[in-house]
Amino acid sequence: MTLYPPLAPRIQDGDAEKGLSLLDLKYAQPSARVPLYQRLRQHGLVYDERSKCWLCAHVSGLTSILGDGRFTSGRPSGSGTPAIGPGKAWGEHSAPGSALREMKASIEQVLARQLLVKDGATHTRLQGIMNPILRQMGHHLSASMGQRVEALLDAAAPTGQWDVMQELALPLVLGSMVHLLLGEKDFDSDSLHRFQAWSHALASVTNGFFSRDTMQRVLLMSEAFYVLLAHKRCAPGHDLLSIFAADVRWQDDDELVANAMMLLAAGSVTTTKAVTHSLWFLLQYAQLWEYLRAALLQYADPRAQAHLLKPVVERLLCRVTPTRYIVRWATQDIAIEGKLIRSGQQVYVFLEGANDGLLQQEILSDTATSDAAVQESCHLLRPGVPLARTILQHTLLALLLRFPHLRLAPVPQQQWGKNANLGGLVALPVVYRKRA
Ligand code: HEM
Repeated sequence: MTLYPPLAPRIQDGDAEKGLSLLDLKYAQPSARVPLYQRLRQHGLVYDERSKCWLCAHVSGLTSILGDGRFTSGRPSGSGTPAIGPGKAWGEHSAPGSALREMKASIEQVLARQLLVKDGATHTRLQGIMNPILRQMGHHLSASMGQRVEALLDAAAPTGQWDVMQELALPLVLGSMVHLLLGEKDFDSDSLHRFQAWSHALASVTNGFFSRDTMQRVLLMSEAFYVLLAHKRCAPGHDLLSIFAADVRWQDDDELVANAMMLLAAGSVTTTKAVTHSLWFLLQYAQLWEYLRAALLQYADPRAQAHLLKPVVERLLCRVTPTRYIVRWATQDIAIEGKLIRSGQQVYVFLEGANDGLLQQEILSDTATSDAAVQESCHLLRPGVPLARTILQHTLLALLLRFPHLRLAPVPQQQWGKNANLGGLVALPVVYRKRA
C-alpha cells in the first residue's frame, strides 16, 4: 500500500480513437480529460487533421520528442515568428492604446527573446545566466518560507472561511517571487494585484491568447521592468534583477528584460496553480487529510515531518502538472514510433496526460517509485521547480498541522481561468471548523 492511495487514477474505459482533437484536449474540463488522455496513450502519436497538429500524451513519445534536437521550442522562421530586431530602448515601443497590430508586434518581439523559445547556442547561453541562480532560489527561500505561510494563515484563520487562491497561494507565491526578483519585501495589495495581472497577461500571450487588455498589461509590465532595471543599475541590491543587471552575457537590455519578465510570470503562475490545485485535490479526500495529519503528528521534529511529506509533494506536482502541455516544431521530416512527422509540423506534448499515465502505473503496481524517478519522469527537474516544491511543502505542512478539519466550501460551480495551458481554478474557498 502506498502512502497516497487517493492519488489513484480515475480510470474509465476509452473507446479508441474517436474524439481525439487538440481543441477537446485543450478545453475539456479536468475530469473529462482523463479518458481522452487514456485514448491518446493507447494510440501513441496521433495526427489531428482539424488543427493540423500531432498529439502526444505517452511517456516514450514525450521522451523521444523532448530529447530530439531536430525538434525546436520556437516556431521555425517563415511560419509566423516575428524576426528579432536590434535591441531598442523601450520608450520607442508602442504605447498602450496604439493599434492592436502594433501592440501585438511589440509583444511578439518580447516573446521571441525568452529562453523558453530559444534553441541551440542562445538557449545554452541564457540557461548559463539564469538556471544556476534559479536552482539556488528554492534553498535560499526555505528558511523564511515557514514564517511567510504562518503569517498568512494567522490573518486568514480567524474568519473560519477563506479563499486559498487570494489569501494564501497568491500572496505567498508572488510575494516570494517579487522578493527574489526585485528585492521588495513588503508591498501592498494594489501592487500584489498589479504583479498578478501582469504575470497572467504575460502567461496568456506566451500561450497565444492575445486580447487588448492582456497586451496592454504586458506593455505596462515591460515599461515598469525597464524602469526597475535602470534603478538597479544605480542602486544594486542582492536581488535577481541586480545580479542580471551586472551580467555581461546578455545580448542587450531587451533580452534581459524579456527574461526577467518571463521568470516572474513562469514562476508565479505555475506555482500558484500547484498550491491551489494540490489543496483542491487533497481536500476532496477527507480521509487522506486525516491520514496525512496523523502520520505527521507522530513526529515532533519538523525535518522528519518535511521528509514524510516529500513523496506526497512530488506526486501532487505530478498530478497537478501546472504546465499542461508544451509545443515543439519539427525542423525536418522525423520518424517516431512508426509515424512520420513532417518538417514544420507542430507537436503538442501533453505532460499532464503522460503524468496521469505514470501515476496510474505506480498505483496499479502498488509499489512506490523513488522520488528521483518520479521527478525525472514527471519533468520536475526544471530549474524553477525546487522553489515551487519548497513553497508547496511548507504550505501543506502548516495547513495539515493547524487545520485538522479544513474542508472545501460548497460552490455552485468552479470558476476556471481562460488560459488552457497554465490557467486553473480562479478561486478555492475553504472552511475551517474547530470540530469535525
Ligand atoms: C511547479 C512549478 C513549475 C512547473 C511545473 C514548471 C514547468 C516547466 C516546464 C514544463 C518548462 C519547459 C517549457 C518548455 O520547454 O517549453 C519550464 C521551463 C522553465 N521554467 Fe518552469 N515550472 C515551474 C516553476 C517554475 C518557477 C518557480 C520558475 C522561476 C522562478 C520557473 C522557470 C522556468 C524557466 C526559466 C524555464 C526555461 C528552462 C529552459 O528552457 O532551460 N519555473 N518549466
